[in-house]
Amino acid sequence: MRARKEAAADADSASYAGMQTVEDVAEFRRILTEARAKGRRIGFVPTMGALHEGHLALVREAKKHGDYVCVSIFVNPTQFGPNEDFARYPRTLEADSASLGGLADCIFAPNAEAIYPEDDQTRVRVGALAEPLCGPFRPGHFEGVCTVVTKLFAIVGPCVAVFGRKDYQQLAVLRRVVQDLFLPVEMVGVPIVREKDGLALSSRNRYLSEEERARALVIPRALTSAVNAFNAGERNVSVLREGVRASIAASTDRIDYVELTHPDTLQILGASERVLERSLFAVACHIGKTRLIDNVVLGEDPAPIRQS
Ligand code: PAJ
Repeated sequence: MRARKEAAADADSASYAGMQTVEDVAEFRRILTEARAKGRRIGFVPTMGALHEGHLALVREAKKHGDYVCVSIFVNPTQFGPNEDFARYPRTLEADSASLGGLADCIFAPNAEAIYPEDDQTRVRVGALAEPLCGPFRPGHFEGVCTVVTKLFAIVGPCVAVFGRKDYQQLAVLRRVVQDLFLPVEMVGVPIVREKDGLALSSRNRYLSEEERARALVIPRALTSAVNAFNAGERNVSVLREGVRASIAASTDRIDYVELTHPDTLQILGASERVLERSLFAVACHIGKTRLIDNVVLGEDPAPIRQS
């Protein structure tokens, strides 16, 4: 107990260099109104915490686009299905504050009641873009994401918001929300940050045992083979797709999808179609109890694992 308290105090002081952590919506708004009144351009990075280098890359990007950067840390209940990992999702506010020290100007860490008061009734739902890929496997997920991000945008009023391409469909769906609802926010996407061995960083990687972590490498390896095949001229959808599916199937416990899609509409390419010169290759699968997603844009992204 004592050790925990001391760690908390350390984290507080380490992150304190001018950085505020705010729970209350009204107080947070006051701080941002003041920043805007001073002519600061607000950059915003929404997260669910358990921060890693991928999140920090977004914060650094936000710093390039704005001069007052806030990060929200909120494990959003409405985007988790009943059998998903909401309860066990890692909550590490102290460590998160410490890792944001010196990078962000303000952390917004509200509780669930502040964002979803008892009489809350409004939801934001996107159509076709939310339907393929993760859509059927996570019913209601994107509605939860769009609702919370719209609420956060309304609270923060950012000029620019930064998201990772790790959640490619999420970014596409949120860009649609911003466009359709005329939200005055510039949306910036950041490439996937990976471990040295190619595994995409994710807060959920901490669920993986050593053995599962080793098996998860099949994902960047399979996507790397696909990028190499594409760069060598392969344009057959089913050859590329089935190649990745077969390698992933051998080492994972369940595949949700392995799909090639149009990079903007996310429409799934049929087996008899040729791959577009820019195509999204997206994968979702389970290793043990952990669901992992990854993607590359063929014709644009480098291979997840680079030859040394
Ligand atoms: P979370 O999973 O915490 O991710 C926050 C942001 O970090 C997202 O934009 C995500 O794409 C980005 N990110 C995660 N891992 C990344 C990586 N390896 N490389 C680059 N970016 C990465 O996504 C969410 O939270 C939530 O759905 C949220 C948008 C906060 C709404 O609740």
